[in-house]
Amino acid sequence: MSNKPLIAVWGSPNSGKTVTTIKLAQALATKKKNVLVLCCDALCPSVSTIAPQGASDHRSLGELLSLPTLTQEDLLRYALPLDVSPRIALLGYKKGDNAFTYASYNRERAVDLLTLARHLADVVLVDCSSFLSADPLSTVALELADHVIRLHSCDLKSLMFYASYLPLVSDTRFRRSNVLSILSNVKPEQDSREYSQVLGGIEVILPHVPQLEQQAAAAQLLNDCSGKEAATYSKTLQFIMTQLSPGEKPSSASSQIKNHSHSLSRIPLLLQQLWKKCRGDK
Ligand SMILES: Nc1ncnc2c1ncn2[C@@H]1O[C@H](COP(=O)(O)OP(=O)(O)O)[C@@H](O)[C@H]1O
Ligand SMILES: [Mg+2]
Repeated sequence: MSNKPLIAVWGSPNSGKTVTTIKLAQALATKKKNVLVLCCDALCPSVSTIAPQGASDHRSLGELLSLPTLTQEDLLRYALPLDVSPRIALLGYKKGDNAFTYASYNRERAVDLLTLARHLADVVLVDCSSFLSADPLSTVALELADHVIRLHSCDLKSLMFYASYLPLVSDTRFRRSNVLSILSNVKPEQDSREYSQVLGGIEVILPHVPQLEQQAAAAQLLNDCSGKEAATYSKTLQFIMTQLSPGEKPSSASSQIKNHSHSLSRIPLLLQQLWKKCRGDK
């Protein structure tokens, strides 16, 4: 079994990590990729804000990480498949979880979880916590990721965040070549040029889309967006995907890919079935 792409989305608090992760997951799903999204933020658990309908009975990533052993079946039991987008499943903390709810876990456990996740989905997207010191899973995801999407916002808080954190992630265990730096949620009146110059290395600008802001506020991020601004946003996401090229293989390997995608195409169904079983549905 080959490892599937692992993409870590990381950045300053409120920079748009969760919004970007979900919209990227949807864009990947429309390209027929099965996407497992790990929502690592334990400070503000986000699953209930993304999929409020199914979230009341979903199981916590914190509980999964503190199980005595970890298997693929465990991941499938804990993942929440999305009714509206069956190619996407979420794994994250539950509403009400806090730092003391579950036993702490170590680095090896985080590696195990990410390794198992990469065998289950076509793409694993990790919505990292900004605060790496409190979250081994995000830290390990940044170390192992094939691609890191680094989100910055046009404000002083984001600059201060990076001034503190960039020295930490300049350690050699975090590969630098795989980072895509993005200025996120940029409003028309904001001076993206100046911030790009100050930050350096910004490759993409993701615009502010009022409809996205409304979706985030109303726990409707899984809805589609429409209109001119949304079209620009969507084009930018397509560009980001070309930079990441998750799962793209040379054409000579096409037959292998066919066989593999055949078995993987069963995963969302499997997730659905297991999830129904967990909920006790017939
Ligand atoms: N591209 C965007 N357009 C409009 N609003 C956005 C966009 N990206 C993020 N936001 C807004 O910023 C807020 C924070 O985004 P979120 O993804 O929750 O940040 P993070 O996960 O980094 O803390 C959202 O609630 C939403 O209002
Ligand atoms: Mg978030």
